[in-house]
Amino acid sequence: MAEWDEEEESTLPVLPEEHFVRVVYNGREYHQLSLSSNAYLAPIDEVEVERLQMTHDMFSLVFDDRLIFPEITPLRRVLDCGTGTANWAVEVARREPQSQVYGVDVSTEMMPMYGYYPVNLHLEQADLNEGLAYHDNTFDLVHSRLVAGGIDAEKWPEYIRDLHRVLVPGGWVQMVEIYFNAQSDGGHLSDNHALSHWSRHYLSAMESAGKDPRAGLKLDHWMREAGFTRMEMREITLPMCGWSHNERDFGIGVANQENVSRLLSSLALYPCTAIQDMTIEEFHLLVGQARQEAAALGLKPYFKAYVVVGMKRAGAVSHRHSSSKSSSSRHRKGRNGKRVPR
Ligand SMILES: C[S@@+](CC[C@H](N)C(=O)[O-])C[C@H]1O[C@@H](n2cnc3c(N)ncnc32)[C@H](O)[C@@H]1O
Repeated sequence: MAEWDEEEESTLPVLPEEHFVRVVYNGREYHQLSLSSNAYLAPIDEVEVERLQMTHDMFSLVFDDRLIFPEITPLRRVLDCGTGTANWAVEVARREPQSQVYGVDVSTEMMPMYGYYPVNLHLEQADLNEGLAYHDNTFDLVHSRLVAGGIDAEKWPEYIRDLHRVLVPGGWVQMVEIYFNAQSDGGHLSDNHALSHWSRHYLSAMESAGKDPRAGLKLDHWMREAGFTRMEMREITLPMCGWSHNERDFGIGVANQENVSRLLSSLALYPCTAIQDMTIEEFHLLVGQARQEAAALGLKPYFKAYVVVGMKRAGAVSHRHSSSKSSSSRHRKGRNGKRVPR
């Protein structure tokens, strides 16, 4: 088990200026380093911060306000990978004040300002594609939600092995990914619908960018390969609007509608027009039509989400393999200036 002093102030330098540089592309603000390193291709502006709150609220309905699915006691240390606005991590830190929660993201730009989140939350910068720099056998829970837009396709097995490595024996991983392939209840959506065109363009643009937009469907396979046990997977329908006669799903659809309307543009803008060759006019036209269809009750449109949990075997103590960088060379200063357990 790693040891560190949670109150210790880091003596490491603050992040270099380049981590705070934004670039405007077709009216949206992006994190320049994330674009230049091909780590993440969605905006990081206020509109996106709002949208991620909508996503989080929608998931709160889907999961009946449960943040953590397995029973974990004691919950001492939690890691949230690709924490973004830290919506999930902030709530866990509030509800579990005895635990230390760590949120890591390639960009600190959407994170809340220091002083505006619980003191048991520690936010820091790192690229998940470079491997986790935390000590082996450290966390009771690792959470990873909606990072498929950022993990390099070929890095997924290694990423999940790394999640396994940093868990304490008996610790849990909890992963959630959406498959952005529009479908419809009753098969109302044809290949010619704009939502279907949008899906094909988005999925193929993400593949061109070296990502795996179908990662959600493979999580359980990669987790099994990494050695997880007691795995449970759920495939969940996320209605794009309030088309369901089921009261609960109707509520989820209503909560999801604005989120979907915004993500059709925000997730696909850069991949479709900068990586692939769609013109901005073609893009706006497609998104406008796809938005109408996403809100059309008769079409009954939805995306699927994949939720998987798994446990690291109680006897499985990890040892960092020799090819990983040493922990000392990978210390980085967190957003709040606290040293993190690496
Ligand atoms: C769609 S947001 C989801 C945020 C959060 N997990 C949630 O569910 O609200 C994806 C986040 O993952 C981060 N991300 C994507 N790829 C990453 C990478 N390679 N390393 C670190 N963070 C990454 C992005 O910067 C972004 O903040």
